[in-house]
Amino acid sequence: MNTSDRISHLPASGEEYSGLAAEAVDAIEELSGVHPGYRRAHAKGICCRAFFRPSGLGMEFTTAAHLQEQQVDAVVRFSGSSTDPALADLLSPAKGMAVQFSLPDGGITNLVGVTIPVFFARTPESFIDIVRTAHRAQAGTLGTLELIKEITVHFSESKTSLLAVKRLKPPASYAESHYYCIHAYYMVNSAGRQQPVRFEWIPETGVRTLSAEDAAQQPEHYLEDELELRFKDESAIFQLVAVLGEEGDPTDDPTRAWPEDRRRIDLGRLHISEIIPEPEGLVMDPTAITSGIQLSDDPILNFRSAAYADSHHRRSEGR
Ligand code: HEM
Repeated sequence: MNTSDRISHLPASGEEYSGLAAEAVDAIEELSGVHPGYRRAHAKGICCRAFFRPSGLGMEFTTAAHLQEQQVDAVVRFSGSSTDPALADLLSPAKGMAVQFSLPDGGITNLVGVTIPVFFARTPESFIDIVRTAHRAQAGTLGTLELIKEITVHFSESKTSLLAVKRLKPPASYAESHYYCIHAYYMVNSAGRQQPVRFEWIPETGVRTLSAEDAAQQPEHYLEDELELRFKDESAIFQLVAVLGEEGDPTDDPTRAWPEDRRRIDLGRLHISEIIPEPEGLVMDPTAITSGIQLSDDPILNFRSAAYADSHHRRSEGR
């Protein structure tokens, strides 16, 4: 399938997923309980003020306003992946970094990353199936044969992601972690050329993790404490990298990485300077794109919009 074929097969909008989204959020609640007023995933988080200074190198690939030459403001939310807002940082291995850029025309666009390069489910349906299976396994209502069957069904799609989670070491800082935005998008330039892309955030000072001994010494919420201390002296800086997909690289499968040798473009630097209260109504929907960027045909990417809206609806009602 070539690039333009892929784009013409895009779902019309996230709305078609709204019933399935409620099922997904219900499944998460059944597995992990409800923490009223909080996000149904990545419940624990901290917002920061930032600005993004583009390098200008993105202009060849996209007309997106924040990837030209003009600096734009941004809000960043760092998070732990758990649904429990009180869980100790060490107990939720994967971390998130969601960035909302303020565009010159008053609009916004988001990029949402985590510290593993691929996701564990290929479609919304398999996401729900995996979460429900985990719940039944946890509740002890899944027979051995059924468990083996479920593991066999989903093992090949989940394997890379589960191994990546297993390999994660406790981060020394939210600011010294590498975040992957996982899904493919397209950058579209002024000639209308569509370039498949995956985005990554690379910490300017490198990745730093804690040894088991050091980790054991940390207070429960050490990542937030560390950021507060850091911002007294310096900003946290991340490079935004565009990884360029080539013919044959999957754009519809968040469980599969692209080959390591793909060309990488330095799109600019994000400077994060201080902790701020969470802006009202903040939803880091990864489908909130802008002119010059298009969604790929990844079913998980397209589904997330409805799932995040559902979670936002529940938490804004105090549920
Ligand atoms: C079927 C797939 C997925 C479902 C159902 C799902 C579900 C959710 C939900 C319900 C929230 C809370 C939204 C809110 O209340 O604002 C959330 C937040 C989040 N998710 Fe996902 N998610 C999925 C896939 C992913 C993937 C592939 C990533 C990797 C980039 C990811 C990273 C995050 C992050 C970083 C947050 C926190 C955003 C913030 O700080 O506001 N999720 N997810």
